[in-house]
Amino acid sequence: MSQCPFQTTTAGAQIADNQNSLTAGPRGPILLQDWQLLEKLAHQNRERIPERVVHAKGWGAHGTFTVTHDISQYTKANIFGAIGKKTELLARFSTVAGELGAADAERDVRGFAVKFYTEEGNWDLVGNNTPVFFIRDPLKFPDFIHTQKRHPRTHLRSNTAMWDYWSLSPESLHQVTILFSDRGLPTDVRHMNGYGSHTFSFINAKNERFWVKFHFKTQQGHRHWTNAEAAAVVGQTRESTQEDLLSAIDKGDFPRWTVSVQIMPESDADKTSYNPFDLTKVWPHGDYPLIEVGVMELNRNLVNYFAELEQASFSPSNIVPGIGFSPDKVLQARLFSYADAHRYRLGTHYESLPVNAPKCPVHTYHRDGAMNFMPMDKNPDAYYEPNSFGGPVANPAVAEPALKISGDADRFNHREGNDDYSQPRALWAMFDDGQKSRLYSNLAAAMKGVPEFIIERQLGHFALIHPDYAAGVRAALK
Ligand code: NDP
Ligand code: HEM
Repeated sequence: MSQCPFQTTTAGAQIADNQNSLTAGPRGPILLQDWQLLEKLAHQNRERIPERVVHAKGWGAHGTFTVTHDISQYTKANIFGAIGKKTELLARFSTVAGELGAADAERDVRGFAVKFYTEEGNWDLVGNNTPVFFIRDPLKFPDFIHTQKRHPRTHLRSNTAMWDYWSLSPESLHQVTILFSDRGLPTDVRHMNGYGSHTFSFINAKNERFWVKFHFKTQQGHRHWTNAEAAAVVGQTRESTQEDLLSAIDKGDFPRWTVSVQIMPESDADKTSYNPFDLTKVWPHGDYPLIEVGVMELNRNLVNYFAELEQASFSPSNIVPGIGFSPDKVLQARLFSYADAHRYRLGTHYESLPVNAPKCPVHTYHRDGAMNFMPMDKNPDAYYEPNSFGGPVANPAVAEPALKISGDADRFNHREGNDDYSQPRALWAMFDDGQKSRLYSNLAAAMKGVPEFIIERQLGHFALIHPDYAAGVRAALK
């Protein structure tokens, strides 16, 4: 047997015995000076941190992004700088509603978060396996999430709350149709697409802006479970997705996604029949075709789940020069929400944790706070800005072009004059008879116990997508 290292306290001193507490006589009691015992118990009490308020249950791995096509005419982002260029990344997938210990094979949207460790800083694309979302105004996010979480009295998930909210919020119809279709219950994360969902922007070397949407298409093909199959899986294992991803990568069967973008010239945003910044809408491929960019491959499993995934902090606010935001209201709110969540969940200096730290030099004027383990100052006199001591300065070369905005400040009714039915109709029309019939039965199953008037209100919306849609659900309800 090879020589094991000697065990130490966290302060580095070797310990003599890790089996027996320090006692007065063999029957005890224990002496207060048994520092080793106290340290172990105290440490254990602090082993849990708050779980993510949404997307708590997750699975992930390290990997690489490789550029296969030149898109430098649209963006100057260095990650896309040359064909063949590789960038290290961390991907985390998740369900939305379930808690940290929830079963994997649940019908739910899957999170699809990728942290690209680019040479110009971390770029986080924090998307889902769906191209759209349930809301178009971020003011509704906490309300919507409350309907997905547990009822305050029963502490059970509530179908009534879900359908009450959805039936009063027709902007959710597109995402609801995806959620209850076959793709709403993927067998695992290797067999599903990912989408940035929001509209973002690209800035090229000439400082021109384009609107952009990101697509990650699975190269493994789509696989999903019916409700009955998923129930059988959960009866066998609650960790089906974790097992699948871990074992595929351990075997060298590395999952890959083709990464593409849709590009819209900046001035087109005023011309489309739909608001291109509305998160409940896709850009039809016929109008804005997919342009291939590269391949994402996951090829390295985690060594420590907690350090590398539970402590990972993905934020849509993490962008790099050449990639920017858009006026999408939901995206705008997310720019605040994630870093705020990270400060609460992980602490002030969460971005210095190894998994979150950029792989490029960091020069900020942020200073103290709990757990500051930033590298020692090489230039301690330059701790404010402007200064005369050679401290870091802003670089105007990375400024974005000005964005034209106009209009009166007001609270505009986002449910007025918005077509919530055409795009779900286009999706529904793509389904074959089997897919439609499973959609209807999945919806009917999820409406169990919901008061009649709420079901009728929802059927009214389905009828506006197509009378056959509503009739199909009505028949399945019987
Ligand atoms: P297209 O026929 O050009 O594209 C259809 C898209 O739908 C493909 O991306 C396809 O993904 C995806 N898709 C196929 N089957 C399903 C399914 N069962 N559930 C969810 N997505 C599916 O049509 P359009 O671009 O004109 O869009 C028509 C409708 O397709 C939209 O209203 C939207 O609901 C849906 N869709 C559109 C996307 C877009 O970005 N335009 C993206 C995803 C869905 P794949 O190639 O992986 O099979
Ligand atoms: C996680 C807020 C919409 C995808 C989270 C977290 C918060 C949050 C607070 C937990 C973050 C953490 O603790 O690390 C919001 C708000 C939204 C919103 C306020 C709208 C107003 C969306 C949308 C998407 C999305 C539209 C996808 C398109 C994700 C993903 C995670 C997440 C993938 C998990 C990230 C990870 O793996 O760590 N969200 N969210 N969210 N959200 Fe959102």
